[in-house]
Amino acid sequence: MMHLRSVTCVADKAYCVRMERGLLAHDNSWLAEVIGGRRTIIITTTSVHRLYGECLRMYLEWHKVPAVIHVVNCTEATKTLETAGGICEFAQSLDIDRRGLLVAFGGGVCSDLVTVAASWIRRGIGHVRIPTTLVGQVDAAVGIKAAVNFRDTKNYLGCYCPPEQVLIDPSFLATLEVRALRCGLSEILKMAIVRDTELFELVEAGHGSLLRSRFVEPRDSVDRVLGLAIHRMLEELEPNIFEDMTYRRLVDMGHTFSPVLEGESAFSIPHGEAVSIDTAVSAAVALHLDLLDSSDFERIVHLLRAIGLPVWSPLLTTALAGRALAHARRHRGGLANLVVPTAIGAATFLDSVEDELLRAAIATVRDTCERPSAVSATPGFTRPAARAAV
Ligand SMILES: NC(=O)c1ccc[n+]([C@@H]2O[C@H](COP(=O)([O-])OP(=O)(O)OC[C@H]3O[C@@H](n4cnc5c(N)ncnc54)[C@H](O)[C@@H]3O)[C@@H](O)[C@H]2O)c1
Ligand SMILES: [Zn+2]
Repeated sequence: MMHLRSVTCVADKAYCVRMERGLLAHDNSWLAEVIGGRRTIIITTTSVHRLYGECLRMYLEWHKVPAVIHVVNCTEATKTLETAGGICEFAQSLDIDRRGLLVAFGGGVCSDLVTVAASWIRRGIGHVRIPTTLVGQVDAAVGIKAAVNFRDTKNYLGCYCPPEQVLIDPSFLATLEVRALRCGLSEILKMAIVRDTELFELVEAGHGSLLRSRFVEPRDSVDRVLGLAIHRMLEELEPNIFEDMTYRRLVDMGHTFSPVLEGESAFSIPHGEAVSIDTAVSAAVALHLDLLDSSDFERIVHLLRAIGLPVWSPLLTTALAGRALAHARRHRGGLANLVVPTAIGAATFLDSVEDELLRAAIATVRDTCERPSAVSATPGFTRPAARAAV
């Protein structure tokens, strides 16, 4: 065999995540400058179009931006190859060229679909994300990966595809349903539990007013919570942004049992609620292993419940959790790498978890729902060989 040459493939890409209110105000030229005269399709969802479509249209006219608005039914059930293909078909019908741009104006489902479509069209055209949900603003829209669901597997097909920009305007959150805001708080708490005590305390102290005002007030607290959550998320993602350095990612906390649970519920349990249940079970696993003390466990579960998030579902059986761990092992290089909290603001990874421990952890969160203050660890589990605590 003749070795001809090694080829290094490095795509030197960078993107900016920016936050400012009043994105669609006439005197704000931010979006118009980002589009910069390119042929652009702004993909949005039915509800976002109903709420902000007119305002967007007036903005585009005012700034003479050559963009077409395309409304797509973006739900978990339609986050599919076919819907992403439909976006490509629309782009083809407009003869979008290599310099063309897609803009995702909606929640996490919209930004996942648009990112996947942008990565396909002419093998990759530019895209910009304007997340309008809390999950989108602190999570789905700020990283580089996106996926669609395939057959019965959530997020099975996807890509790593950096956006050109992420434009975050917290004022869009004012029209979100409280249930969707709670889902966003679930992702924020995921970040807080593994990395940031201050963020946890801010949510602990402020979730009531944040939810009541729909993230309008108090403005300082909204900015601090969003800013910290996004900052921590990006700090965690950046060193391993293509997920090719390690399969051990702190941001996977709450994301081991949740994808299978979402699928099992036929997506009637939204992503953020599934993450909350997963977080509670992961914390209970740590409690049973004596990796987390009971006061921190109670604090986590109490806060999730005080926000109005579920911590248990009858669909969450030991068999389902075992299946989810098997999926996780296939996805994470052979080990479960279950992220479990060891304190508020710190976490560690477990290579594997026995069924008996899963059963006990699920029973603990179920009991917690019935008796809010009764939290007891079942003794008898041995602490696994310590992985590097973070
Ligand atoms: N790619 C990633 O890294 C990543 C990370 C986290 C989550 N996700 C994905 O994101 C999805 C969840 O995103 P989501 O929680 O934003 O849900 P979503 O996109 O389904 O949006 C929820 C609902 O809110 C509506 N909506 C959006 N903005 C609104 C607004 N400002 N006012 C009123 N209604 C509004 C939407 O139209 C939709 O009906 C899941 O598919 C999940 O897998 C992806
Ligand atoms: Zn998530």
